[in-house]
Amino acid sequence: IRFIDQMDLKGKKLLIRVDYNVPIKDGVIGDDNRIQASLPTLRYALEQGATLILCSHLGKPKGEVKPELSLKPVAAHLAELLGRPVLMAPDCVGERVRSMVDALSAGDVLLLENLRFHKQEQAGDDEFGRQLAELCDVYCNDAFGTAHRAHASMTAIPAHAPQKCAGFLLKKEWEFIGEALAAPKRPYVAISGGAKVSSKLGILKKLLEKVDTLIVGGAMANTFMLLDGMKMGASLVEADLLDEAQAVLDFAKEKGARVVLPLDFVVGESPDATQAAGIVEAGQDIEPHLMALDVGPKTVELYREVLSGAKTVVWNGPVGLFENDAFADGSLELARIITGLDDALTIGGGGDTGACLKKAGLADSLTFISTGGGSFMEFMEGKELPAFKALED
Ligand code: 3PG
Repeated sequence: IRFIDQMDLKGKKLLIRVDYNVPIKDGVIGDDNRIQASLPTLRYALEQGATLILCSHLGKPKGEVKPELSLKPVAAHLAELLGRPVLMAPDCVGERVRSMVDALSAGDVLLLENLRFHKQEQAGDDEFGRQLAELCDVYCNDAFGTAHRAHASMTAIPAHAPQKCAGFLLKKEWEFIGEALAAPKRPYVAISGGAKVSSKLGILKKLLEKVDTLIVGGAMANTFMLLDGMKMGASLVEADLLDEAQAVLDFAKEKGARVVLPLDFVVGESPDATQAAGIVEAGQDIEPHLMALDVGPKTVELYREVLSGAKTVVWNGPVGLFENDAFADGSLELARIITGLDDALTIGGGGDTGACLKKAGLADSLTFISTGGGSFMEFMEGKELPAFKALED
């Protein structure tokens, strides 16, 4: 793979696939982390004398034009961050876009409209990719968050563009996550939270091949508790996955890795409850009308002990329903423990990890926080990501 700093960009039209799939409500951007993360590549390309054409998807419009999923608010925000105008195209392909692109000169920045307004994007359509590739001299992929999608902008554009490269964000994600995968410093502790065992089986197994300790938290832990016969009340469980959960524990044993499950749970009547109903220790039963929504104080102390002295930490997903203040303590304290570690490589990614750190006021406190959700998970699982494959010569 060639990286952007190995390319001659002077006077070139550079088409950059970014991931500006950011939360937008009523035209206001909620979290601009992904936009910020693209700036090093954009600034570098501008300094080199390139013309920038940016493309991204936003949400899931499924091939229809949906005004609320327009990238216009992103153009305005990006203009502020870059301190220069960002032109907004009415579409991403077609005559009008072509003439806008023809009128650009070095230093100009044009943002194309949501790629997923065309169903060909998600279908990985070759002709659609070719039309986009025709807009540029060089294609650059810097959309790590979308790297696991074999969509046209990830695979078909690089197949047709005269030249192709990876941007600095892709490079950084590759290096940091790759380092944790390849030669982690020990002790290596991974934390896997989130709701479902089913969506995490791949990553759990992959992590167990490397880690010394795996902390399983969040609703996912509930399913593991069933194995010991604990009654989980109304908690989210995947009773059909008991065999899989047992297989994870057996695999851990085989690999000599320790699996840490919660010692106690904060329970509540529903995910929207405004206060907790109490704490239930592992081994005691949760009443039928209550559900486990956070880990309890004993578990947090166990996390502190397990994490002390860790040299590599990978954190994937909160350990409770942190969005609700009544059930946020476990995850927020975990964020404090991880970010307080001395001399450790700490990597976060996947789902809500970033949002949880933000809630704890620790947004920039890990060594590295991935911009990827699904892509982070698949990368950690050791899967080959279509975006990287498409950049190979
Ligand atoms: C993400 O937010 O994970 C990426 O932008 C990919 O979006 P998608 O899950 O809609 O493909």
